[in-house]
Amino acid sequence: MTLKPQLIQFPSIKEPKGDLTFTTFESDLPFEVKRSYWITEIPDQQLRGGHAHKSDIQLIVCVKGRVKAKLQALDGDVHEFTLSSASEGLLIPPMWWGEMVFSEDALLLGFASNPFNEKDYIRDKADFR
Ligand code: TYD
Repeated sequence: MTLKPQLIQFPSIKEPKGDLTFTTFESDLPFEVKRSYWITEIPDQQLRGGHAHKSDIQLIVCVKGRVKAKLQALDGDVHEFTLSSASEGLLIPPMWWGEMVFSEDALLLGFASNPFNEKDYIRDKADFR
């Protein structure tokens, strides 16, 4: 199965006391989560990403604020997403070049299919092409 970039909607319990969103890794996600990371203290309009992963699958959730993500495939296919809800995540398959622009005070939570390995990154767009 070839994964495509896509938004995944999480179940969310909205109550006057706050919103609680959840996912069950084994049954609800199309990969096994081996690692999580979070990005905080992001300046307004900060650009991050600028790389692709050779085999790592990523799921990112903008828990607070807004993230605009542009994903580009080797064949030139481009998908753009705006993440502004804690109840959805963006699935980023391997070999998609990703660039993200963050709003001030955005909080990003990431899940990945592999332990961290710098060798899994393609950071030079010429190498990606
Ligand atoms: P990077 O993935 O390049 O961040 P972004 O795509 O958001 O710009 O990661 C930034 C730095 O953090 C880089 O030196 C790699 C390191 N890092 C880890 O050590 N472990 C991790 O799980 C992640 C995601 C990054």
